[in-house]
Amino acid sequence: MPQPLATRAPAKINLTLHVLGRRADGYHDLESLVAFAGTGDDLRLEPGEGLALEVGGPTAPLAGNDADNLVLKAARLLADRVEGLQLGTFHLTKRLPVAAGIGGGSSDAAAALRLLARLNGLPLSHPAVREAARLTGADVPVCLEPRARMMRGVGEDLGEPLNLPHLFAVLVNPRVPVETPAVFKALGLQPGERLSGAGHPLVEWGSLLDTLKTARNDLEPPALRVQPLIGEALDLLRQTAGCRLARMSGSGATVFGLYEDCKTAAEAAKDIRRARPEWWVKDTNLR
Ligand code: C5P
Repeated sequence: MPQPLATRAPAKINLTLHVLGRRADGYHDLESLVAFAGTGDDLRLEPGEGLALEVGGPTAPLAGNDADNLVLKAARLLADRVEGLQLGTFHLTKRLPVAAGIGGGSSDAAAALRLLARLNGLPLSHPAVREAARLTGADVPVCLEPRARMMRGVGEDLGEPLNLPHLFAVLVNPRVPVETPAVFKALGLQPGERLSGAGHPLVEWGSLLDTLKTARNDLEPPALRVQPLIGEALDLLRQTAGCRLARMSGSGATVFGLYEDCKTAAEAAKDIRRARPEWWVKDTNLR
């Protein structure tokens, strides 16, 4: 019996996200410092004939139908490029909120590519693996090897992994899905339009928190117009003791607060759960 293969699909957090402009094809050029959380979904692959997916876990009912699942999309894109690729049945334990700006679907797809690469003896640097990641979605390449790094372009231009100092975070999602295209549309850029002065200030690595404060998430204002609960979640985080920075991740609705230590973060998470018991709240580390 072949051994099942398993991997964690961690939440992706955009610590910063600067929009540099809109390309002629409609996609936006970005510059983003991406980190990964200690929390995420879990994916297991049972090698076998054909390709299948079973989804369980607390947020499985929100994950949509299997046909749209990025795990299957990524696996098919890889199978189209590698002759005789061995596939099997994926078992996804879904814990992250969906359409949430923390790359749940993208990280699941990247995890599927990692497992298929391992099963078939392909390095993650293999051009077919890279291409399958890029074609699955803009955030999939950065999730392939989930380490903090700069991400540029539409998401395909990746910097070297960065050793960030420990960051303690609280993630808050008001359990309302936010569609990424709607947020980019609300930004209101025309195809070909460039933004001047939008370059990233992350050159000095003195104090990461102080440096992060000089950066932004440019999708925050349009996302707040699309979903005002994001503003409420940011306000709640800012009111917690010891919150050094509160910002939205990706196109929302998940927001994160950063704290000096894990105890302060745990207390803040408790406060937010007390105020909004129906929201998804998670204290975690980022790296
Ligand atoms: O690639 P993905 O399917 O994740 O992107 C979803 C949508 O988000 C795109 O169709 C596009 O409207 C928008 N997007 C964008 N610029 C990016 C990434 C996504 O305009 N860099």
